[in-house]
Amino acid sequence: MSLGFVIGESKPTFVTAITSRALSVGEYIKISSDEGEILGLVERSAVSSAAFTDVKNFDEASESTEIAELNKRDKTFTAHIGILGFLENLRKGQSIIPAIPPIPGTEITLPSKQDLEEIFSPKKEGWVSIGNLLRNKSIDAKVNLDKIVSRHLGILAMTGMGKSNLVSLVTKQISKLKGTVIIFDYHNDYTSLNIPRINVIDAKINPRLLDSEQLSDVLEIRESATVQQRVLRMAFTENVKKSSEFWKRLENEVDSIINSDDNKLKEIRSSAYRVQDIVEDAQRRFEDILDPDMGDPISFIKEGCANVLNISELSEKQANVALAFYLQQLLKDRKDASIAQHGKTKRKRNFKFNSPVFVIIEEAHVFIPKDHDTSAKYWAAKIAREGRKFGLGLGIVSQRPRSVDLNVLSQMGSFAIMKIIQEDDQRQIASATESTSRELISQLTSLNVGDAVLVGQWSNLPSLVHVEEVKEKIMGADQSAINAWAKADKMKGIAIESTQGLVQKDLLLD
Ligand SMILES: Nc1ncnc2c1ncn2[C@@H]1O[C@H](COP(=O)(O)OP(=O)(O)OP(=O)(O)O)[C@@H](O)[C@H]1O
Ligand SMILES: [Mg+2]
Repeated sequence: MSLGFVIGESKPTFVTAITSRALSVGEYIKISSDEGEILGLVERSAVSSAAFTDVKNFDEASESTEIAELNKRDKTFTAHIGILGFLENLRKGQSIIPAIPPIPGTEITLPSKQDLEEIFSPKKEGWVSIGNLLRNKSIDAKVNLDKIVSRHLGILAMTGMGKSNLVSLVTKQISKLKGTVIIFDYHNDYTSLNIPRINVIDAKINPRLLDSEQLSDVLEIRESATVQQRVLRMAFTENVKKSSEFWKRLENEVDSIINSDDNKLKEIRSSAYRVQDIVEDAQRRFEDILDPDMGDPISFIKEGCANVLNISELSEKQANVALAFYLQQLLKDRKDASIAQHGKTKRKRNFKFNSPVFVIIEEAHVFIPKDHDTSAKYWAAKIAREGRKFGLGLGIVSQRPRSVDLNVLSQMGSFAIMKIIQEDDQRQIASATESTSRELISQLTSLNVGDAVLVGQWSNLPSLVHVEEVKEKIMGADQSAINAWAKADKMKGIAIESTQGLVQKDLLLD
């Protein structure tokens, strides 16, 4: 059935159409050109009414409603359509843009269910469903998991719009395929995710494996306290690292600086006292976090599982050190494993991971910030650049894309972008994604919870989808203050009643 016609000036990548009804942004249409059937995406949609043009006052507006109702030709529905390519090629995952623009007058129709299914829900290995097309609800929206592991994924949206839900869904799908996922969980969002093969680990740091700068960070020595940092550098010797009594040995080393007769060391004595306090204090304060006897933290991660590394107990600096450590070790392990696999040496070695790993970093604006360097950022950037070669995929999640390092962001081969209102955020996303998706990105303000724009290599085409809600865990639902207050008040009532009961009973007993 005819939906409309191409009008005005057409371009190979863009046409304007007049249609019989208002088209929705994100809707797919078919253009039947002489060269073959072309698929297009409605990027902007407008409705105008002749009767309401130049209306200047209330009475005119009121009369115009009647005229508009009577006149069938009153409404004009205009759609701006981005051309995605020939249908035939899109079915094979290739986008070939016509050389000749569709001639004005060319008919526009709706694609069939089969047309859309062949493109958006291919029945191929590695493609999994994450929801449905937003404007064509009966079509499954599938993504290619291979592409996110090899070319990385960015999940960006305002707070509460469904990022963690999508992370849970992707994790669930990868774990169904017995793949390895590691989530750095900064807000304790995933520890109760109820999916098979989940492995929750309370992230700890083994101080022996750090350098003195990292140890200084985890002990929370201030950045400006350069003398204290110097003391720690001197005290944190190789012998301390190897000692069976790590803390005691470290304290001894600091003591020997305090007690030294060397004039140079006397000058830094007061800072050494401070370090002594800090080291003593840290053993108590960070008892659950710093563990010199834990061995290699990587050994707790299980291959073929959804590993949730709970870093919620760590301060930002500690989390940064932990993240940098894990990322560095993971890259090293995957690098060694793939060199051994592809290299000529027949020597078998044991690697922690013998298959690709997908690592997800929540709060990426904290760990991979735009305006300063962190060690986690250094390793994340390295994985973004090199991970592809070694089967180490990176997923970065943020509600402040404008504050995430653009170098890392633009290495993400695929994106899921949900509602975003801030223009700075939209600009940053536009610079990190391909130009063809920018029109879609301008639609981000109008999305609802769970709606997402998918762009990049994990989908055959840029698309607007509604992500399925993961039932295994109701994620980060907004806390209802009203409910909590009512509950607290009720509890108070019960408490008063029971104490009154007690008092009365006591009185009776008296
Ligand atoms: N696809 C979806 N369909 C329906 N509801 C959803 C969907 N995704 C998320 N929600 C709901 O929205 C709420 C917030 O979701 P989620 O925790 O995933 O958001 P977020 O973007 O990770 O937020 P934050 O920035 O605070 O981490 C949850 O209550 C969840 O149930
Ligand atoms: Mg979240």
